Amino acid sequence: MSHSNIINAFGKADVYHSCFNPNILRGKVAFVTGGGSGICYSICEVLMRHGCKTVIASRKKDRLEKAAAELSRITSQECLPVVLDVRKPTEIMAAVDAALSRFGKIDFLINGAAGNFLCPAASMSFNAFKTVMEIDAQGTFNVTKVVFDKFMKDNGGVIVNISATLPIRGTPFQAHASSAKAAIDTLTKCLASEWGQIGVRVVGVAPGPIAETEGMTRLAGNMQEVISQNIPLLKLGNKLDIAYAVLYLLTPVASYITGHTMIVDGGDWMTSNHTFSMMTARQSKL
Ligand code: NAP
Ligand code: COA
Repeated sequence: MSHSNIINAFGKADVYHSCFNPNILRGKVAFVTGGGSGICYSICEVLMRHGCKTVIASRKKDRLEKAAAELSRITSQECLPVVLDVRKPTEIMAAVDAALSRFGKIDFLINGAAGNFLCPAASMSFNAFKTVMEIDAQGTFNVTKVVFDKFMKDNGGVIVNISATLPIRGTPFQAHASSAKAAIDTLTKCLASEWGQIGVRVVGVAPGPIAETEGMTRLAGNMQEVISQNIPLLKLGNKLDIAYAVLYLLTPVASYITGHTMIVDGGDWMTSNHTFSMMTARQSKL
């Protein structure tokens, strides 16, 4: 167990605890889309606290730069901010080139960039559906292909796709994001079966409802307490729950896991109330 007196993933002074050796990712480099905020920021923080350098990639330059500076300050590891839109292959190529020129390699890719909002299918525009499919599903493929072509096909690596539990049962008002995450889960399996032989593992993590995130604010509004009462573990998850799952999947302990998407949701998907009336109530409380 390692302890250090530093700022935790919630930005509060706290003692950082980890069951993993603090050097378990020493010398590794992770490219993290969406790493400037929310869950993926916490993933970066945890990887960096275990010795990894990170590249954080998304659209908003100012937020990325602030996040990179803060991550470096609290972990004493290097973090490079790069601007890209995951829908634009030329921007991804430039960002991956910048990462390789700075660090010389990319051992891990975390595909976390996503967009979502509550919207009944009946009132969803063509472009609304397309936009979420393009950011989540096409974007995951785009970034994966560029990182694979430019580095992993010759050197191996681990790819973690951030999914969701939305597609398991079919969630009202989430036709766009559920379809996109289902596509991502299938991509995880297809790429794992093609690339295992060349040393690339492809896995996923499907978070349940995670407190203090943009996703929860957009999808649950002020109904978070009600939601937590439907979860077998009777609480929302926190960002570190997801970050530790990703850390585990990147370590040699997980070296025989590929093609699998790990659900980290306190059992939420089995018992949660995703009825049409519940989602209508949620939307009215946003
Ligand atoms: P978040 O903070 O809003 O993270 C989404 C990130 O994606 C942002 O950093 C955003 O940065 C980036 N992004 C969006 N569109 C992009 C684009 N076109 N190109 C590049 N980057 C883009 O939300 P979060 O709630 O932490 O979610 C993080 C991940 O967890 C997502 O994959 C989400 O689906 C998944 N998830 C979350 C929950 C939850 O409870 N929060 C539950 C299940 C799954 P820019 O705006 O700078 O581009
Ligand atoms: N309800 C219904 N439709 C919506 C919507 C909402 N709340 N928000 C956006 N849309 C529609 C827009 O109206 C537009 O369709 P139209 O051209 O037919 O009018 C389409 O979606 C694209 O919207 P736009 O704002 O142009 O897309 P963008 O690429 O700038 O932003 C989003 C993408 C919409 C996903 C934006 O919310 C975003 O950037 N999200 C990132 C953060 C996030 O969602 N975090 C949670 C992750 S779980």
